Amino acid sequence: MRIGIIGFGNMGSAIYEGIVEEKIFKKKDIFIYEIDKEKVKNLNLNICESNKDLVEKSQLIIIAVKPNDAKNVLEEIKSSLSPEKILVSIMAGIKIKKIEKIVGKNIPVIRIMPNLNVKVKSGIIAYCSNKYGRRYENLIEKIFSSVGMVFKLNENKFDTITAISGSGPGFLFYIAEEFKKICIEKGISEKISKDLVTYLFYGTGKMIFQTKKEIEELKEQVCSPKGTTIAGLSVFEKVKFGNLLRKVVEAAEKRSKEISES
Ligand SMILES: NC(=O)c1ccc[n+]([C@@H]2O[C@H](COP(=O)([O-])OP(=O)(O)OC[C@H]3O[C@@H](n4cnc5c(N)ncnc54)[C@H](OP(=O)(O)O)[C@@H]3O)[C@@H](O)[C@H]2O)c1
Repeated sequence: MRIGIIGFGNMGSAIYEGIVEEKIFKKKDIFIYEIDKEKVKNLNLNICESNKDLVEKSQLIIIAVKPNDAKNVLEEIKSSLSPEKILVSIMAGIKIKKIEKIVGKNIPVIRIMPNLNVKVKSGIIAYCSNKYGRRYENLIEKIFSSVGMVFKLNENKFDTITAISGSGPGFLFYIAEEFKKICIEKGISEKISKDLVTYLFYGTGKMIFQTKKEIEELKEQVCSPKGTTIAGLSVFEKVKFGNLLRKVVEAAEKRSKEISES
């Protein structure tokens, strides 16, 4: 199968690397079109002349441009699409209905919501499809599992998943940044503070991932009675940190809804 990737930015390039490194498809079968020629100048890729050219050469087309460029790209390629091609969009907030309105209802369309962590092949990738896209769901799972965990999700939950896994890395980076600031304030050198926070997140993630224990159980393990962790966690409880986090997620979810309805 021949794959086309429109837009070779953060996401497009990460997906390309995943597919090639995990040997899902061969390099020779992947076509790229990127408007910013500088980005692909010295790379050994199959660069197409235009998006139309890319669609003509590919059977499965991944659109990885910013949502603001969606209309331009879809208008440009619509005459080259046919029901034998599969259109995959990773553009945040662009609903299947919006895509179908431009390209027609008879084109298989799959909508994907990835997150930044696909860059380290540990992404969270939710997908949904239209009626004609359904028969390609196994293929989609195979392709995107090269960059993380993949699961099917009803499109009406996409704003929620955008807020949790899409924005989630940003929320955790924020907490990591605050931890680093505290370390520095307490007199730990900047370098050690950064390494320490890096290992705090890496090791804690690895504990959840590798031990496969319930998160609640892992938390209990560090909470010895009258110990330091319990003392710290009681502050979380007092300020109702859970409610604060809920507000954070709901603000992102609301914004996602506004974007997808605009
Ligand atoms: N980054 C994330 O964490 C994340 C998470 C979930 C979903 N997404 C979605 O993934 C998509 C891509 O995001 P990104 O972070 O990879 O963006 P990006 O780094 O800006 O990449 C998009 C690339 O597409 C190029 N482009 C623009 N118009 C084009 C056209 N007509 N034909 C071909 N290429 C074109 C852009 O060039 P110029 O820079 O010159 O415009 C840019 O190089 C977005 O729709 C975003 O919503 C991103």
